[in-house]
Formats: sequence, C-alpha cells, structure tokens
Amino acid sequence: MNRYLLKMFVLAAITVMSMAAGVNAEEGAGEGERIYVKYCSGCHKLTDQTSTGPGFQGVTGRHTEAWIDKWVQGPKAIIESGDPDAILLKEKYKITMPTLKVMADEKARREIINFLKQNDKNVAQ
Ligand code: HEC
Repeated sequence: MNRYLLKMFVLAAITVMSMAAGVNAEEGAGEGERIYVKYCSGCHKLTDQTSTGPGFQGVTGRHTEAWIDKWVQGPKAIIESGDPDAILLKEKYKITMPTLKVMADEKARREIINFLKQNDKNVAQ
C-alpha cells in the first residue's frame, strides 16, 4: 500500500468510526452498531456513498422492514425467488451480498434494523 492509499484508508476508517460513535450517542443503537461495524461496514457505508454495496442512508425508506429482514437472511434466496427489488439490486452491483451467518439470528436482525432506522433518523436531521 503506498502512502497516499494508506492515508485515505486511515481517513475513511476514522470517518466511519466517528460516524458510528455519533449514532451510538443516540440511545439504543449499541448492539446494532456493533453488528454493523463487525459484519456490514466492510461493504456498506452509513451515508449514501456506494462502496462494495449501496450506502445505508435511506435504506429503511427504500425497503420495508420485512423485506430487509428477508434480504439479510439470504440475498441469494430472495433474488432467486424473483423479488423485483432484489433482482434490480443484483443487476446493479458487481457482487451479490453473501449470506451472513450472524443474520440467521432473529435478535441480531432486529438490532441491525433498529440501527439502520436510527441511522436514517440521524442523517435526516
Ligand atoms: C461482502 C460485501 C457485503 C457485506 C459484508 C454485507 N453486504 Fe449488504 N449488500 C452487498 C451488496 C453488493 C449489495 C447490493 C445487492 C447485491 O448485489 O447483492 C447489498 C445490499 C444490501 C441491502 C439492500 C440495500 C439497498 O440500498 O437496497 C441491505 C439492506 C443490506 N445489504 C444489508 C446488509 C447488512 C445488514 C449487512 C451486515 C450484517 C450486510 N449487508 C453485509 C454487499 C455486502
């Protein structure tokens, strides 16, 4: 990694961390934030900026909670079920989101969805 890339990487990491900390200051986001940082932040920013996957800003307005709940349990399965939103996403992004084991847990899904809702509230202000 050259110095410029390293600098950009460190800046990006600091931005993500301070944004996550900002969200945490709002009550109740703790566990969802931890899940986001550990399992989602590698591919999803909290802003509208695309990284490997779409930025999470506004995601709870783009989909219902039920849809997000189903998506995170198995992106491949919902795409193959013929869901139009899932197919559009698949066509737009180079890779398909992997099925993450952590999302098999209902409580973890509730936590992350609450975190996404909180994030949307924060950015809307
Ligand atoms: C390896 C990269 C990767 C990881 C890790 C990942 N995602 Fe994704 N995600 C994607 C991609 C790519 C898409 C776009 C659709 C597609 O092609 O699969 C996506 C789409 C989504 C969408 C739909 C977004 C929209 O704007 O419509 C949601 C919701 C989502 N991911 C949630 C999560 C959650 C929650 C986690 C962590 C538990 C997570 N993702 C982890 C790559 C990832």
